[in-house]
Amino acid sequence: MALIGSDINRASRELDKGNLVGIPTETVYGLAGNALDPKVVAKIFSVKKRPTFDPLIVHIPSFQFLNTIVAEIPEKAEKLANHFWPGPITLVLPRKDTVPDLITSGLSTVAVRVPNHPLTLKLLDQLDYPLASPSANPFGYISPTAAEHVQQQLGDKIPYILNGGPCKVGIESTIIGFESSQPVLYRSGGIPLEEIKELIGELNTSVQTSGGAAPGMSASHYAPGKTLLLGNIRKLLEEHGPEKAGILSLKDHYHQIENRYQIQLSLNGDLAEAARNLFGSLRELDAMPISHIFAELVPNCGLGLAINDRLQRAAS
Ligand code: TXA
Ligand code: MG
Repeated sequence: MALIGSDINRASRELDKGNLVGIPTETVYGLAGNALDPKVVAKIFSVKKRPTFDPLIVHIPSFQFLNTIVAEIPEKAEKLANHFWPGPITLVLPRKDTVPDLITSGLSTVAVRVPNHPLTLKLLDQLDYPLASPSANPFGYISPTAAEHVQQQLGDKIPYILNGGPCKVGIESTIIGFESSQPVLYRSGGIPLEEIKELIGELNTSVQTSGGAAPGMSASHYAPGKTLLLGNIRKLLEEHGPEKAGILSLKDHYHQIENRYQIQLSLNGDLAEAARNLFGSLRELDAMPISHIFAELVPNCGLGLAINDRLQRAAS
């Protein structure tokens, strides 16, 4: 099993040896390795059982590092980076040849971000290379928001997990690309769309679920093991019965169901708190002796957009 600890030197020694390490970020835990070593990148895909057509995000210590891996930085990309980094926004930009083909799945662009977690920023600072890091879950399962989640799922495949506590945002980064120099939303995430628009104006949001530009956005990406049904929870209870069901609501409680089979994401409907609790709650319900999870969409604003996106993927 992997060792769990907060020893940055230990993490960097493992990475220098070409091993993979679980790392904390503000969004979700990552499965990290040397981004410039194709053998290490191949290991990431195999440990995650991730298809190689689904490209990885490269994590760098600061904006200054960006020009070592990207060939061109559009003005709006620079604006976003300066405003939100370190933070939960990933930019998809034209790549340099230093980036291994496997990272980008052969695309001419590379996804990059500066994560906002003190331990991981320190780690990145002391390494001579950036870190390729997808979320540290087996492909198709719920993303990890605590070191223990990584241990449960990948602990037997990696030597070390850097423990940075529970993730403060709890949902993956927002991914922005540029097509014909226009900004495009590839994945809603930890930075609300409203804040991005305020900074750079309108952006194209229609390609988000097309699957073409962001190959990893397969429909069932966040699926728990149980069947998740999305809708009006009261109606779902009437239609399918309360037996064997668990509930994931924003704030309402349902007396028909035992308490431990239902989770309220935020008692006062706070969407940031709901985002923080989402993946852990899905995991908890997944471990319960139930066959179905009934869940409802949350208001489609702020972080609600990303929460609803993940719920819809978990349901399909
Ligand atoms: O918050 C996050 O972004 C977390 C933490 C660990 O940083 N990482 C994460 O990585 O969510 P992952 O691998 O689970 O998701 C990366 C997404 C995939 O959907 C992938 O298709 C997309 O980024 N992506 C990567 N490179 C791309 C590119 N060149 N063009 C379009 N999409 C890209
Ligand atoms: Mg992922």
